[in-house]
Amino acid sequence: MSQATPASLLTIFGATGDLARRMLLPSLYSLQAEHLLPDGMRILGTARSELDREGFSNLVAASIAERIPAAERSDEALRGLLERLDYCAAGADDDASMQALAGRVDALRNGDVLYHMSTAPRFYGPACQALAANGVAGPGTRVMLEKPIGKDLASAIAINDSVAMAFDEERIFRTDHYLGKEGVQNLIALRFGNSLFEPLWSARHIEQVQITVGETVGVEGRGDYYDDSGALRDMLQNHLLQLLCLVAMEPPARFEPTAVRNEKIKVLRSLRPIDRGNVGTESVIGQYTAGASEGRVVPGYAEELGRASRTETFVALRAHVDNWRWSGVPFYLRTGKRLPSRSTEIYIQFRKVPYSIFGGPADTDMRPNGLLIKLQPEERIELDLMSKTPGLDRAGLRLSQVALDLDFHEEFLNSRKRIAYERLYLDAIEGNGTLFVRRDETEAAWQWVDAIADGWRDAGMLPKPYPAGTWGPGASVSLVDRLGHGWRE
Ligand code: BG6
Repeated sequence: MSQATPASLLTIFGATGDLARRMLLPSLYSLQAEHLLPDGMRILGTARSELDREGFSNLVAASIAERIPAAERSDEALRGLLERLDYCAAGADDDASMQALAGRVDALRNGDVLYHMSTAPRFYGPACQALAANGVAGPGTRVMLEKPIGKDLASAIAINDSVAMAFDEERIFRTDHYLGKEGVQNLIALRFGNSLFEPLWSARHIEQVQITVGETVGVEGRGDYYDDSGALRDMLQNHLLQLLCLVAMEPPARFEPTAVRNEKIKVLRSLRPIDRGNVGTESVIGQYTAGASEGRVVPGYAEELGRASRTETFVALRAHVDNWRWSGVPFYLRTGKRLPSRSTEIYIQFRKVPYSIFGGPADTDMRPNGLLIKLQPEERIELDLMSKTPGLDRAGLRLSQVALDLDFHEEFLNSRKRIAYERLYLDAIEGNGTLFVRRDETEAAWQWVDAIADGWRDAGMLPKPYPAGTWGPGASVSLVDRLGHGWRE
């Protein structure tokens, strides 16, 4: 993509949808407010709804009013954004409407075009092919695809094949919005911008790694999608595996798309399969029942859904990256809905000191060092160290664990918390794919995840109930306890 120039037109499919209103339009507003969108770039919304330009502008203005805090809103920025807008109703399966859309694209573009598919994934292929058939998918155009790319390997291949008939791989930008989060990129900075950690970053010094993405929300009206998906497909296949890749990958030659993605795919291909033979020992699944979340009583998953279901709303796995660097180190992954707190974190526990010189109480005080990389809700890096407990030690020296804490909110007080799509949009507008997912990554992740889902089915494994507001079924404690570990809570 070295020949890419900043897009002159961004065309959003699904422009009236939920993701657009919650994330995409507010992100574009913020970029506009900071004068970061290319001069003259137009934004064309498309969806099935029969709106005119004014109707779409009203929808955009309402979304900004709802999502952007009043103190950050300005009439000038809103006007600037609205001036860029246009709207054309279209449906991927309606040829005449796609032809009209292509005509509008041609009329508005003045160089490169970025398409953004934010619709149900089954429309990606047909929409891309209709763009190609109408002559607006050639060189100088690129396409962003939202997750999920399918719901298993076979459907992911079908979507990827069908999009590939219109766009070649370097022009396809698959989003995983976690990669647009500041804290996730900071993980790359922490690993490869410091010489301190890298010598310790291997099985030799690391005992275990934990990646937790906890959510307090339930399924929030997305029951139909979610029930078909579950925590494994909705979160683990993409967000958690991307985090795992960034923790486990070798240093890329450069911070650029091919080098970074070449390293991530090696990690995915080194994941030890979890399948019907070992799902029972390597995984735990749960489904929330009624309980309390953030101080209020909430219904169980089946009640929210209106029917009984076998879908997991919690999953914990013990994964292994079978290569030289990580041999023998468990990577514990867990994610779920209706957990006690919204919290995304990576915890690296180092090995114990090889020998204690202290004797006495200090030996029981001693804890292994840990590095906590907190990504949500706040960004923070914490290094747990042992320190002498102040005192005269008449009964023997005592040790305490103390945390060396780097709180980015204090350090970078003036930087606003950005929506992940701000970064992703800017990169895709400029044609930089480093923070997007390549086809082979998505498919390798599905292959690994499919074996787990098939294993659950074949083993007849059903989600264990856990009350809303707890950290999943008790069995997830046993999963880590078996190797003498404990979840960081
Ligand atoms: C999405 C999932 O990809 O990520 C949702 O489909 C989930 O189920 C969301 O709630 C979590 O994203 P974030 O940015 O709020 O951690």
